[in-house]
Amino acid sequence: MVNNSNVFQLGVCDYPEHVPQDHWQGYARQQKALGLTYVRIGEFAWSKLEPLEGEYHWDWLDQAVNTLHVEGLQVVLCTPTATPPAWLIRAHPEILPFDKIGKQREFGSRRHYDFSSELYREHSRRITHALAMRYGHHPSVVGWQTDNEFGCHDTVRSYGGASVAGFQSWLEAKYGTLGALNSAWGNVFWSQDYNAWSQILPPSNTVTEANPSHVLDFYRFSSDAVASFQEEQVSILRDLSPGRWVTHNFMIFFSDFDHYRASECLDFPSWDSYPTGMLEFFAPDGTGEALKTKYARTGHPDLISFNHDLYRGLKGGAPLEAVSRAHPRTAGHWVMEQQCGQVNWAPFNPLPAEGAVALWTAQGWAHGADAVVYFRWRAATMAQEVMHSGLLRHNETPDRGYAEVKALEREGWTTAPVKTRVALLHDYESLWIFDAQKHSSGLSYWTQTLTYYMALRSLSMDVDIVHPDSDLSSYSVIVAPAITLMTETRAKNLEAAAEHAQIVFGPRTAYRTKSGRTFEEGQFGPLTPLVGGQLENFDSLRPSLEVSIGDHRAHTWAESYAPTTASVRYTYSSGPLKGHAAVLEHGNVTVIGAHSETLIAEILSAKLEAAGLAPMPMPEGLRVSNRAGKSLVMNFNEEAVSWFGKTLEGVSFTEL
Ligand code: GAL
Repeated sequence: MVNNSNVFQLGVCDYPEHVPQDHWQGYARQQKALGLTYVRIGEFAWSKLEPLEGEYHWDWLDQAVNTLHVEGLQVVLCTPTATPPAWLIRAHPEILPFDKIGKQREFGSRRHYDFSSELYREHSRRITHALAMRYGHHPSVVGWQTDNEFGCHDTVRSYGGASVAGFQSWLEAKYGTLGALNSAWGNVFWSQDYNAWSQILPPSNTVTEANPSHVLDFYRFSSDAVASFQEEQVSILRDLSPGRWVTHNFMIFFSDFDHYRASECLDFPSWDSYPTGMLEFFAPDGTGEALKTKYARTGHPDLISFNHDLYRGLKGGAPLEAVSRAHPRTAGHWVMEQQCGQVNWAPFNPLPAEGAVALWTAQGWAHGADAVVYFRWRAATMAQEVMHSGLLRHNETPDRGYAEVKALEREGWTTAPVKTRVALLHDYESLWIFDAQKHSSGLSYWTQTLTYYMALRSLSMDVDIVHPDSDLSSYSVIVAPAITLMTETRAKNLEAAAEHAQIVFGPRTAYRTKSGRTFEEGQFGPLTPLVGGQLENFDSLRPSLEVSIGDHRAHTWAESYAPTTASVRYTYSSGPLKGHAAVLEHGNVTVIGAHSETLIAEILSAKLEAAGLAPMPMPEGLRVSNRAGKSLVMNFNEEAVSWFGKTLEGVSFTEL
């Protein structure tokens, strides 16, 4: 339970600084009447709060917070560090980050700072301190959001400036000696050995591919900088604003930093859900235009729910060792920005279908969200986002989403935790190393992971997405689609889980060491005894190439195995791997080498049955999710669908 009651709540993002003060009371009354509980404010208001260094203008924010308080609304206040003002940047241009080819990025939008800039850190602490001193005890301020969407617009990794020295000292602290670094990265390859820390730069603008071990450590360094930037703000907020929670609004499928690590200091994670925009960018490969067209006005149900399940699990699934260092485990998450009309940032921005805003809200609740906060109250009348919808139009008349929020029935939507016996394993370091060398252009960590997730969802399963080093004892089926990075500890955790759970591994599992090298004994390294076999060959399939495994067709990727103690469950029946093992089975453990949706679904279905979980194939676009003793059926098709004696209108939901 991560809101201030055990009932699911709604809220809205608002920008009092964008409109004259005489609008504020009317807005607050209307927000209350709409059934909203929370108003999130302030995340980009730095230049208005501190127009000159050290000169704070609190009056307007005092008024804004008080107005919301008087009208009975609760405030989520944000630190404004996503938008350092012009006076700060012009006085200290060294705060600005550098892009991938080493060019300094400019002031004039947002997120223009390098997380490693000590000088910026000082200002971030200073403004956080000032805000928390002023509002930390205000009765309407119930929680805080740090900054806004860390990493948005490609801003986690800075390839110059403050990050250069930061990276060098991070490496020195990690390796101690250059010999250790040279050996871990395999720098003998192409004469990449270093003999001074100052010779090592961020992996930018290299003539051809940079050493993936170098890339991996640079990603780790940049990720640590995000986490420690956040920790600094959180610790100030905890000191000066007791009894309030702290969260951060993460982004759809964003992977440039380790979100498990960045969530350690939070009370709960939040994420920003933009289903139609997300589909334009993240439609699974191979599905292309057809899928984008079909779900253009609703977003794809599985892409949305994947993010809910991922963010819900960030703390629940944090590595055990991390949790004990930080706050106790907390279930639940929030949607801090929920699309409620058109967005403005995708290549195409279709108008959502009627019913979509209510459907997204219901889906959020069913997947564990304890609050959904709409973005935004009134459509902006100025600057970059005038093409973006809000609950109110520019002229302040209610827009389409408003009516859906008003009509939403939330009877019995409590904040009980989502319970499932199915886990899907996810880890950001595996993602970084997998995507640094995809080897087949249709393949990526997310594509492979989503293929397994979608299969589970289309078999009606609720899924927890958790870290592979977390406690797996409560699961009966564990699916690890792309955990390519293996360690002895991780292998032991999986061995223990295999005592009680069915486990499925996808291709490229256990292919890399912590340094990004392969194991001397090859794939599956320390996981070999559990899998009962070894990699023989891998095959990267261009779009026009497929291989068969009986009736199944595999595309994109195929790898074959030499069994040691495992039995061969499927073999390739065409192509260069013909006659070789495509799937191994070893006790409770199965490893699938081929990228084939039908084969994956068949194997997962059998594993779920073996665990007594009764998988039920769902019609296209229909999904079922369970929470608080209710089963919610959601229809993401624009046309009506009949299922189990019920007819669901297009873009709607009902309880089973
Ligand atoms: C989010 C961001 C908001 C707004 C919104 C528009 O990524 O946090 O500030 O820009 O997108 O969809």
